[in-house]
Amino acid sequence: MPAFTATAPGKIILFGEHAVVYGRPAIAAPVEQVRARAVVNAEPRQPAGHMRILAPDIHLDAALEELPDEHPLAKVVLEVMAELDVSHLPACTLRVTSNIPVASGLGSGAAVSVAVIRALAAFLGSSLPKERVSALVYEVEKIHHGTPSGIDNTVITYDMPVYFVRGQAMQTLRLAAPFTIVIGDTGVKSPTALAVGEVRRGWEADPQRYEGIFDAIAEISRQARMSIEDGTPEILGALMNDNHAFLQQIGVSSLELDRLVDAARRAGALGAKLSGGGRGGNMIALAEADTAQVVAQALLVGGAQRTIVTQVA
Ligand code: PMV
Repeated sequence: MPAFTATAPGKIILFGEHAVVYGRPAIAAPVEQVRARAVVNAEPRQPAGHMRILAPDIHLDAALEELPDEHPLAKVVLEVMAELDVSHLPACTLRVTSNIPVASGLGSGAAVSVAVIRALAAFLGSSLPKERVSALVYEVEKIHHGTPSGIDNTVITYDMPVYFVRGQAMQTLRLAAPFTIVIGDTGVKSPTALAVGEVRRGWEADPQRYEGIFDAIAEISRQARMSIEDGTPEILGALMNDNHAFLQQIGVSSLELDRLVDAARRAGALGAKLSGGGRGGNMIALAEADTAQVVAQALLVGGAQRTIVTQVA
């Protein structure tokens, strides 16, 4: 019996996280070094309709019907069944693995969903267009994020750098030249929904101040797009620093993130900022190709649990 396998990358947000929830543009890129993987195997000896879900990373080994409908893995399977109008699955095992750290701003939830949707659709003899994959992932992201902007499902489904505005069609970026990003993981788990909720409370308490900050971040994202498309990385680094300062102002940075951002800048990065929901998770630094390893080393000395050097291309 063939196995149906699909994988999906992690992602970083280069500019505009949080502001993107409030309609401002953001820029994100896939991270190919970390991936989620889903494999579906037929189990002809099991009774029809039976699906066993294995996710060793989260110590899960359960039948589909044992999971609540709002469990992200159950939800994504049920979404695919509804989308393909399948009321009974042929007996099968779904195995999910991932080396994307969870609750760290690298899009692990969305990557798992993309991989499961593609592997399961293939098992059921279908392949879904990207718009549908992204839309289904968005529904599952609501569990992780509360009020997701849609950027994670978009960048991971399309697997390319994107300029994203909530509710609008995804725009691709025409990179003048690839650039190098060093990712540093604080090791502090931070569910995105909590950070997003915290920002929401701040915005409700002082909408004028928050709207002003979101407008400033929007301007940074727009300038960053021009800089990426013109190939002017000096400007890009400064924009990352500015973006980080605004994220500090809305309270989503942390001691650990600030420490790593400082360490990267002191080691010669052109700019650095937190990436994703914040309050923990990962930060990113823009580095010249020949200083990337120096920056990565400085991050480890500064307390990073691990680093990834990746190219945005
Ligand atoms: O999944 P994370 O932690 O990268 O967060 C996504 C970015 C946010 O802007 C904080 C939330 C969203 O839905 O856009």
